[in-house]
Amino acid sequence: MDPISKTETPTKAPQANSKRCFIQTYGCQMNVYDSERMAEALVTAGYEQVESPEGADMVILNTCHIREKAVQKVYSYLGRVKPLKQKNDDMIVAVAGCVAQAEGAEIISRAPIVDMVFGPQTFQQLPDMLDKVNDLRARGEKARLVRTEFPAAEKFEALQSVARKPITRNPSAFVTVQEGCDKFCTFCVVPYTRGEEVSRDTQDIVAETRALVEQGVCEITLLGQNVNAWQDRQSGLRLDGLLRQLGDIAGVERLRFTTSHPRDMDDALIDAHGSNPKLMPYLHLPIQAGSDKILQAMNRQHTAADYLALVRRFRQARPDLALSSDFIVGFPGESDEDFDATMALIDEVKYAQAYSFKYSPRPGTPAADSPEQVDEAVKDARLQRLKTRLAEHQRQFNEAQIGRVLPVLFEKPSKKDGQMSGRSPYLQTVHVSMDEAMMSAVRGRVLPVKITTAFSFSMVGELADEDA
Ligand code: 5AD
Ligand code: SF4
Repeated sequence: MDPISKTETPTKAPQANSKRCFIQTYGCQMNVYDSERMAEALVTAGYEQVESPEGADMVILNTCHIREKAVQKVYSYLGRVKPLKQKNDDMIVAVAGCVAQAEGAEIISRAPIVDMVFGPQTFQQLPDMLDKVNDLRARGEKARLVRTEFPAAEKFEALQSVARKPITRNPSAFVTVQEGCDKFCTFCVVPYTRGEEVSRDTQDIVAETRALVEQGVCEITLLGQNVNAWQDRQSGLRLDGLLRQLGDIAGVERLRFTTSHPRDMDDALIDAHGSNPKLMPYLHLPIQAGSDKILQAMNRQHTAADYLALVRRFRQARPDLALSSDFIVGFPGESDEDFDATMALIDEVKYAQAYSFKYSPRPGTPAADSPEQVDEAVKDARLQRLKTRLAEHQRQFNEAQIGRVLPVLFEKPSKKDGQMSGRSPYLQTVHVSMDEAMMSAVRGRVLPVKITTAFSFSMVGELADEDA
């Protein structure tokens, strides 16, 4: 999962009579998706999303617990919200997501301004929680609600009952198909904060996809902590079959999925990369480290050779596949030789993109108690070496596209004036100069673009002839 650190959920202007809600999102796409669904659930309670907490009637922090400082970030953000709440006593402050799940009542007792705390599987109860808060307030009592149960199946039911509102109208949308993780990597809090693996029913996923397509979406990214563990509980259908069904829906032009675990990869899903024309040639397949000793200590349940064999099979099915991964440096017990094995692995795979992190001990996970913690300075140096090499590979991958014509899905204006940005099949950001009229004409369309310039993290191109 793309572990971005902070995301502003796109918004639209509030209507005069609606209440205002601001959502601050931290973490992965799963959280971005959850924030969108919270915003949708809140529409029924008369709220519209706004772009800043100033003047909001409700502020929600959708939190991430995967690496350190998450908890500090929450309290420091609450510190910023405090004067706003002092100005507007009616404001409702909520903490949601994985920190909420892990810290629960602790947040309520440490931060008096917080009215509600709810875990990642309970946001469908939001309108109900709001009613409770308002009832209690009407009676002159202070509301302190904590909801951190794990009804994932219930969450999926609720996902379906809240019609998808065209809040973002982005031509590319996420659809959650799977929640939770049973893998218990020894560094990771997800199995504790998101609970066990649960798959969403095929018919609900298809219905949500159809609704999105009706709103102009043409690219769907299926989301799950272990998305390739997805399996329909009734029919036994696996992810390759789901991707085939979704690809058959008129209007779906591109399909992606993230995040996969090497252990759950099956032949049919590998083959789908060669046979499903809607499936984009891009795969996020985290390995975390290149040393077998470390992989074992991480409880990844595969070796570096197993992973490399998988990569080879994928590239046989789809030779131009772009690969992406997550890496952790400085896992307890990681020696210089172990780290060198990670560097050798990335030289072999040559990732098109990757995320890398310093190991951060998470309370309650086995690795946090290891006596072999790596020195912070060593972690810093390793992270820098790794990031530098990964960026080189990424630039080389991008440079290899110069002169090629790639189909680009145009999404939004670039930060730079007079440019529109979109995504190549390999998930690279591509900027193209054009006039205003053209910008609105291309939005949401897949058009051929000739790549002229490549950087480490983006590319520039020009519109090419449709038959180029
Ligand atoms: N320390 C550092 N990185 C972590 N990740 C998960 N837990 C930790 C941790 N304790 C990284 C992994 C995972 C990504 C989402 O976050 O690389 O794949
Ligand atoms: Fe965490 Fe491992 Fe599960 Fe990924 S597979 S969510 S890293 S426990």
